[in-house]
Amino acid sequence: MLINLKKKPQIIRKNAERCREKGIVLPTFAEMKDPSLIPQDIKDRLRNVGLWDVNPLNLYRINWHNEPKESGGGYGPVNFIEIPREITGTKARILALAGKWFPCGVHKVGATYACLAPALVTGNFDAVEQQAVWPSTGNYCRGGAYNSALLGCKSIAILPEDMSQERFNWLKTVAGEIIATPGCESNVKEIFDKCHELDEERGAHIVIFNQFEQFENYLWHYEVTGSAILEVIRSLGIKADRIKGYASSTGSGGTLAAGDHLKDVYPGIKIGAGEALQCPTLLRNGFGAHRIEGIGDKHVPWIHNVRNTDMVLSIDDQDCMDIYRLFNEKDGHDYLRSIGVKEEDIANLQLFGISGIGNMLSAIKMAKYYELEEDDVVFTILTDSSVMYTSRLAELTEQQGPFNATEAAKVHASALMHQGIDNALELGYYDRLRIHNLKYYTWVEQQGKTYEELNRQWYDRDYWKELPKLTKKIDKLITAFNTMVLS
Ligand SMILES: Cc1ncc(COP(=O)(O)O)c(C=O)c1O
Repeated sequence: MLINLKKKPQIIRKNAERCREKGIVLPTFAEMKDPSLIPQDIKDRLRNVGLWDVNPLNLYRINWHNEPKESGGGYGPVNFIEIPREITGTKARILALAGKWFPCGVHKVGATYACLAPALVTGNFDAVEQQAVWPSTGNYCRGGAYNSALLGCKSIAILPEDMSQERFNWLKTVAGEIIATPGCESNVKEIFDKCHELDEERGAHIVIFNQFEQFENYLWHYEVTGSAILEVIRSLGIKADRIKGYASSTGSGGTLAAGDHLKDVYPGIKIGAGEALQCPTLLRNGFGAHRIEGIGDKHVPWIHNVRNTDMVLSIDDQDCMDIYRLFNEKDGHDYLRSIGVKEEDIANLQLFGISGIGNMLSAIKMAKYYELEEDDVVFTILTDSSVMYTSRLAELTEQQGPFNATEAAKVHASALMHQGIDNALELGYYDRLRIHNLKYYTWVEQQGKTYEELNRQWYDRDYWKELPKLTKKIDKLITAFNTMVLS
């Protein structure tokens, strides 16, 4: 089975006892997809809870429907925006889900919950005795440390030393231990090495939740992010033949899985995988350092369904940094106003983190590549928001000089209006196979996966289809666990 659901009854009892002591019940996938299923008393109690509070009730805010409020919010429609054409420069519509309104401000909290919850309810993680290890290039360890704190278990966050100061500062307030590994965004191998080291040192005292290989991460996005997009489609009444694509960068490959769900419903859509041009692993087996925090690198994640990916979209990190300034500096806003961007759209610019900007650029490239028309729609994801990166503004001013009206016009013209179809690669059968084959070096040679399973990922048509079948099983386990907690 791709997700370990083998039960260890003794540890389940211990975990349930821990949850009873702390008053913790766990949301199911069904509730994360449709918060109207959440019991009324939980909704009532959430009225007094802030979005970032370390309060276990916030587990029930792990969904795309949170009312956009810092505190006391209930549930509403899916949080999404339509990015105006004055910004995208495309004929096609670009719609983006907004991750800012997840607890602790990142969509990644969903993937971490999905990795932790099945382990907790099957007893494959002992919340009393073991530490949860969250290896990450960014927000995964943030979400992991946060969820561990909600559940009252100890955590270790592992992330590269060059990540933004905001990340480290906040992590200090929730994570039990923080380990900074050498390098930046693209140094995933160093993170894996640290995990092996920890495994040797601490063995049974830790459980490593590895987002790059855990299908729970895939499943969360397939189910929860995928369903949220389908809900947006329904709410706007978009016709099936106008749904053209889904573009999302790959860090762990989790977010990309929402595209698999969309393609199951709309088989004609294109799925585009974004990456940084400065580290063009998918585009040309390349390597390098880059500044799009959270998207990952120099390897193909185990959970990336490469055979279902139609395009690679390599995004220049300088474009992302320039647009981040345009979206966050006063002169940037003034310029955008002057070209007709509405106030409400300017207010929405706070919803874009750096990788969210990269995702928007991927969607723009896709729309331009396929010469999409006025009613055509491409979906993408704003994974976190601008607040995660404000320290970058001062750094960029120091490196590039002040941001003024001239700079704003330059960035708008070059990085947005003239964003081209360069470094966009439509994948043929053997392009996909080339990318899939790269998994061998990371996963079979280094990380202990089998050659047979690698081949199954490519040749066995049922391999990926098995995953959504597990959702109901996991929900049953969570419900049974909650019953134990409440009994
Ligand atoms: C800011 C940010 N953007 C994008 C991603 C990539 O998402 P995924 O890991 O689901 O591919 C991450 C992952 O941690 C992230 O932190």
